[in-house]
Amino acid sequence: MSRGTTVEVTFLPGLGDVVADEIVERLSFERPPRPAPGRDDALRVDVDGPLAEVLGLRTAVAAFVVRHFDVPRPRSLTSGDHLARIVDAMYASLRVGGSASFRFEAAGSDSAVFARLAQLLHEATGLAYDPEHGELVVRVARGHTSRPDADPGWDVLVRLGARPLSARRWREVDFPGAANATIAAAMSRLAGIGPHERVLNLMCGSGTLLVERLLAGPAAAAVGVDDDPAALESAAVNLRAADLRVAALPVLADPAAGPAGNEGGRVSPLGAGPAHGDRAGVATRGAGPAGADRQATPSRTGPPTVASHGASAAGPAMVRLVQADATSSSALTAALDDEPFDLVLADPPWGALHGSHATGAAVHAGLLAAAHAVTAPGGRLAVLTHEVRIMERAVADAAALWTPLGPPVRVFAKGHHPRIWVLRRA
Ligand SMILES: C[S@@+](CC[C@H](N)C(=O)[O-])C[C@H]1O[C@@H](n2cnc3c(N)ncnc32)[C@H](O)[C@@H]1O
Repeated sequence: MSRGTTVEVTFLPGLGDVVADEIVERLSFERPPRPAPGRDDALRVDVDGPLAEVLGLRTAVAAFVVRHFDVPRPRSLTSGDHLARIVDAMYASLRVGGSASFRFEAAGSDSAVFARLAQLLHEATGLAYDPEHGELVVRVARGHTSRPDADPGWDVLVRLGARPLSARRWREVDFPGAANATIAAAMSRLAGIGPHERVLNLMCGSGTLLVERLLAGPAAAAVGVDDDPAALESAAVNLRAADLRVAALPVLADPAAGPAGNEGGRVSPLGAGPAHGDRAGVATRGAGPAGADRQATPSRTGPPTVASHGASAAGPAMVRLVQADATSSSALTAALDDEPFDLVLADPPWGALHGSHATGAAVHAGLLAAAHAVTAPGGRLAVLTHEVRIMERAVADAAALWTPLGPPVRVFAKGHHPRIWVLRRA
């Protein structure tokens, strides 16, 4: 009996439960997801629906069609039946996402055996073999067995798609310190995705958390807040690249006209063009490299200014980008002079890129207080932070404002171990 196509889904360690939930929700399968043998960053699932659905997973890093071979060494993979099964897996991948070339990820991939295998796969598929930059990844690795006396054989895993699932087409601006998109998608899922909710992304930077939330489902309203105009410009570019409608960027004080702030300073429009697909509307405006090496200095931008309030009557809400200090309750409530939000997402500054450890306690405490001021009772706040001890203290001190919905989720990402807190407003 067919068990469907076995697919291995990889993820950032720590996100396994969220990824399993997304698989269960999105895919049809014969057998539910189970841990991939020998790994803490992969699940296997026997998909019996269209493989293209796998490409829609937003919390996963990559997905591979799995073929197991009871052979003692890779040389055997070049023989008739085995080769045909590998070619079949490559075609399964090509049907859901085109690639022009392939490469191996395998120990010994520069050996004569792999050169022979590459030649045969090239002849069978027409794909160019490009050991460095090949798009279609063919991973060859030892299999796994629980029986110590048995040969584990070999697994061949063919990646679905020419790029990993975690690569986002919408990321046109690579903002320093931007959140990993799979973590951002996981945050929204952990906090819950309600279709008619008002969503706020504080300290939005280039908009990763907001984009991922809005791509996961509609929202009644969507607002991104940052105190850095360059960050807001980056967010506008990325949101539009994700086909989301963005209101004209805020009217900001012209720094050349005097002290920061709108009172007393000349104001000039940032991007007044059409909301959708208008690159001219996000031209950089003398703010230096986006967010690089800045200190988090609360209230340095003066009174916040708000972009158009235009939410579309047809179609999804238009995203507003607002310049404001997200650690000041008074500044934030003044900037967001409308209904409270149901879901608030935040990714406070960390390290040298967007803040400093010294200001971390004030930033986190200020964020929790300011978010409370603009969130509806029962609303949720999801915070991704590397400042674990500082956040633990801030959450304990804000016990009257926020209740944790569970222990924080620890994620492992490129040598960093940030955590995701999900809190409910009192
Ligand atoms: C870690 S980055 C956010 C990155 C973002 N999630 C992304 O994917 O691009 C932190 C952001 O917080 C902003 N920020 C720092 N202090 C702030 C404050 N007091 N009010 C508002 N934004 C602030 C910075 O400008 C920066 O864009």
